[in-house]
Amino acid sequence: MAKTRTQFVCQACGTVHTRWAGKCDGCGEWNTIVEDDPSAGVGGGPGQAARKGRAVALASLSGEIEEAPRIPTRVSELDRVTGGGFVRGSAVLVGGDPGIGKSTLLMQAAAALARQGHRVIYVSGEEAVAQVRLRAQRLGAADSGVLLAAETNVEDILATLAEGKRPDFVIIDSIQTLWSDLAGSAPGTVTQVRTGVHAMVRYAKQTGAAMVLVGHVTKDGQIAGPRVVEHMVDAVLYFEGDRGHHYRILRTVKNRFGATDEIGVFEMSDKGLREVANPSELFLGERNAKAPGAAVFAGIEGTRPVLVEVQALVAPSSLGTPRRAVIGWDSSRLAMIIAVLEAHCGVRLGSHDVYLNIAGGYRIGEPAADLAVAAALVSSLAGLALPADCVYFGEVSLSGAIRPVAQTGLRLKEAEKLGFASAVLPSGSADLPSNRGGSLALMEGLPDLVVRIAGSKAAGLTGGEED
Ligand code: TYD
Ligand code: MG
Repeated sequence: MAKTRTQFVCQACGTVHTRWAGKCDGCGEWNTIVEDDPSAGVGGGPGQAARKGRAVALASLSGEIEEAPRIPTRVSELDRVTGGGFVRGSAVLVGGDPGIGKSTLLMQAAAALARQGHRVIYVSGEEAVAQVRLRAQRLGAADSGVLLAAETNVEDILATLAEGKRPDFVIIDSIQTLWSDLAGSAPGTVTQVRTGVHAMVRYAKQTGAAMVLVGHVTKDGQIAGPRVVEHMVDAVLYFEGDRGHHYRILRTVKNRFGATDEIGVFEMSDKGLREVANPSELFLGERNAKAPGAAVFAGIEGTRPVLVEVQALVAPSSLGTPRRAVIGWDSSRLAMIIAVLEAHCGVRLGSHDVYLNIAGGYRIGEPAADLAVAAALVSSLAGLALPADCVYFGEVSLSGAIRPVAQTGLRLKEAEKLGFASAVLPSGSADLPSNRGGSLALMEGLPDLVVRIAGSKAAGLTGGEED
């Protein structure tokens, strides 16, 4: 029998160390290393009693395929994100910051499914039965027939699920509270979380129940018990939003049964989450079109066009190193746009603070937003408002060229629907509509955009160097 070894695992990145240390070499985090027993838990490996293997039947690739059997919730924003409903026998991880509304969303989904006659079990490890009941009453879900259990022990949960009729849909809220007798380490550690998730995924595969696992995200944006669980589940959804705003966005990060990059948009109200069928109207709701520094970006999320406002404030800096602050976009992309404006367009931002904000607490991932960001920056620096009925999209390359992006037709159609008659977009864009009423300005490079916005004032942006 092999000697029991202990190891030390970083709870933030999963790096294994042979001895304890205050700082993890893997990720540089402090106080994240915890003692762990590698031979414990499901799949603990050769430390455990050896068993003779059993041969499994080999299959060919060209067999019958069954369409994944789905359980649609009929909460259409949720079904859009999952690709048409939860798949039987699959496990889905729903991640998000604490308090963002994961339990609320899943209670609403559970109630919708129970009302359709499915057997739904909600296992809460964080809240007592009374607390969950209180929320259900607030959501009007109390009479839906969802079955409730407040339990955190993996073995007890599995025994509970095995009793009575097989459930169609199981929710575990949350994976961080799961603990198993099989894993020796403390609850909440990587080993415990991994063991618990593994047991739940196996249960789903064996019984054909759809399993939803809730996971809290730590402040650096990883699910605690980090990437170790993302690869074990069939789909990963992130629920995100800004606490100061009431919109919540459900985003697909991984989906074995459907498309990723879809979003579902919800609004948090006093009666739970409300679906938002037309997000553009929401994000443009509080718009002040006369202020300089605001450009409307025509974006695409999955299959759906979304219009959002990009806001920039460029102000003279009193600091040696001017401030660059970004909310809702990638800060290194902003640095790139600023560099391209400086290098190729003669726009001097070196002594200015730059603040960039995406309205409504929304987060843009698309490079197509480059052109809208550049337009907002130039507009703010020049103090000239952009035309109120114009949208911007296009990717900016380091050479200052503006590159075409996908789905031009869809972006323009949504813009037109919401009353944006004109658009600034890359030249060479495919599928331009032939019968469009408004004006389209096709741009070759970023200097064209600067001249278009600032016009004769363009020389003023260069800090008087032309003198
Ligand atoms: P919750 O679903 O408990 O968050 P999570 O499970 O992600 O930690 O949601 C908590 C927040 O949502 C809380 O701050 C209160 C708010 N909320 C509403 O505004 N309206 C509601 O109807 C409910 C149930 C919650
Ligand atoms: Mg919760």
